Amino acid sequence: MKKSIIAVLAAGLVAAAGCANGGAARAQDGAGDGNAVIEAIMARRSIRQYKDTPVEREKLQLIAECGVNAPNGMNAQAWEVCIIDSKEWIDGVNEIYKAANPQAASRPGFRNMFVNAPAVIAVAAPDDTYNGVNAGLLGENVMLAAQSLGLGTCCLGGPLRFLQSSPEAAPYMAKLGINPDYKILYLIAVGYPDETPAAKPRDLSKIRFLGD
Ligand SMILES: Cc1cc2nc3c(=O)[nH]c(=O)nc-3n(C[C@H](O)[C@H](O)[C@H](O)COP(=O)(O)O)c2cc1C
Repeated sequence: MKKSIIAVLAAGLVAAAGCANGGAARAQDGAGDGNAVIEAIMARRSIRQYKDTPVEREKLQLIAECGVNAPNGMNAQAWEVCIIDSKEWIDGVNEIYKAANPQAASRPGFRNMFVNAPAVIAVAAPDDTYNGVNAGLLGENVMLAAQSLGLGTCCLGGPLRFLQSSPEAAPYMAKLGINPDYKILYLIAVGYPDETPAAKPRDLSKIRFLGD
């Protein structure tokens, strides 16, 4: 593992330990105290307000690498991850969004269409069930790795639908250079959190055992 990645990981452990979300916002009571993986899973929440601070490229690279280390069918790695931290691109599509959605854009606290994040990750794959599963597993790795580094994330479908249906956004989408046989399946907003939302309740009755 590269030295810079080790440094990012070490900084991330410190950030996660002191992070406002760390451990406090556990979705459920239960096992896991002191287990960094379980704590990160339980503490992760969708973040929709971010600080202005840009996210370091080393951290964006590391969380993307965690993403592509997800299990995937036959290790075919039929996916693409495009990390967008270009202010020009984000501001450009945001202007198109604001023109089409003036009401949403005038809400207090609105900074951009990506729930105000300074960076966005586009996850693309062939548009079929198994590759959708692969891409989803990749995304959760990205979001948990981000959580462990003190970053916030939010999986986004709505803004993607807008971008895919807006003729004005087409040149921006083309700039992402995604394999023409792939489709962007979702986006992940990434940034330093500026809110600590409470966990939304989870229905544990959806979990069943079939045992003797
Ligand atoms: C496929 C997918 C699409 C989503 N799209 C959006 C979206 O467009 N806007 C948004 O604010 N949140 C979006 N979310 C986030 C969910 O609303 C959120 O994960 C859910 O309410 C549970 O909250 P939590 O992530 O804080 O646990 C999306 C999540 C997923 C998995």
